[in-house]
Amino acid sequence: MEATKFIWFNGKLVPWADAKIHVLTHTLHYGTGAFEGIRMYETAKGPAIFHLRKHMERLKFSADSLSMELPYSVDQLCNATVELIKANGLKSCYIRPIAYFGFGEVRVLPTNCPVEVAIAAWPWGAYLGDEPARVTVVKTLRVHPQTTAPGAKISGNYVNSMLAGREAVQRGYTEGLQLDYQGNIAEGPGENFFIISSRGGSSSGGKGITISTPALGSILPGITRWSIMTLAKDLGYAVEERAIKVAEALEADEGFFTGTAAEVTPIASIDDKPMKSSPGPVTKQIAEEFKKITRGENPKYLEWLTFVNK
Ligand SMILES: Cc1ncc(COP(=O)(O)O)c(C=O)c1O
Repeated sequence: MEATKFIWFNGKLVPWADAKIHVLTHTLHYGTGAFEGIRMYETAKGPAIFHLRKHMERLKFSADSLSMELPYSVDQLCNATVELIKANGLKSCYIRPIAYFGFGEVRVLPTNCPVEVAIAAWPWGAYLGDEPARVTVVKTLRVHPQTTAPGAKISGNYVNSMLAGREAVQRGYTEGLQLDYQGNIAEGPGENFFIISSRGGSSSGGKGITISTPALGSILPGITRWSIMTLAKDLGYAVEERAIKVAEALEADEGFFTGTAAEVTPIASIDDKPMKSSPGPVTKQIAEEFKKITRGENPKYLEWLTFVNK
């Protein structure tokens, strides 16, 4: 990981090496942080941050789910991110805002623990590698909706993700696929899941192809997931959010993961059963269109980008 000059830390730009916390920080012990992962891309008009505002709005939503009052507004956090990018002179990068309960008292309820906020940014490449992912269904279930709010990006939820991802990698796969408490596919440890099937009938859109993704409830409502659903509908595909069983996914034509880190990553196989094609034609088209959008090459979606040098 490549260090940059500054980290935005509680309202100030501080040198990377000085952005430190106390060992009795509440969130270090109890997982009570809210965080985000955002990407910035190089475009012809300079660096552009993808869905900056949506990410900061989700940060606020995640903080709210912890009853954590952010000391900065969404606008202030967006401006701070732009300030940080400029100070670090970055062209493309990954951006990690985090809000956490700092050092106050050591007890489960964060009594007298100040809410602190940091934003870091550093150059970062492909997350799941450049090859289509070999995926396995893992035994670690995705957190139940009545436990730690799977729809919020909360630090503690990533124990669940870490165990799922580690299980997959230890068994020799690229990534895990987690089921929800009802036995439906939920998502990857850091990615949303999609399948593509050609089915006749009126529900399959003009192209006779349906793109399906697990419904909200047990998953993180990915910002890339939303962007890809919007793009796929605009491209004339039928898009469905619904329950998907593993048996159905094994019979799908194509599959892919989406996420800020993973972008659009084609799935090669699920539990060693190859997808019918990988990367298939629809996945390829969607990945290419997504790349154009993030690089500012599709005028229709320019509002999804925050240009740093306005
Ligand atoms: C558990 C989980 N699901 C899905 C995603 C994808 O979400 P997004 O597209 O907003 O990055 C992420 C990454 O943030 C994640 O951690």
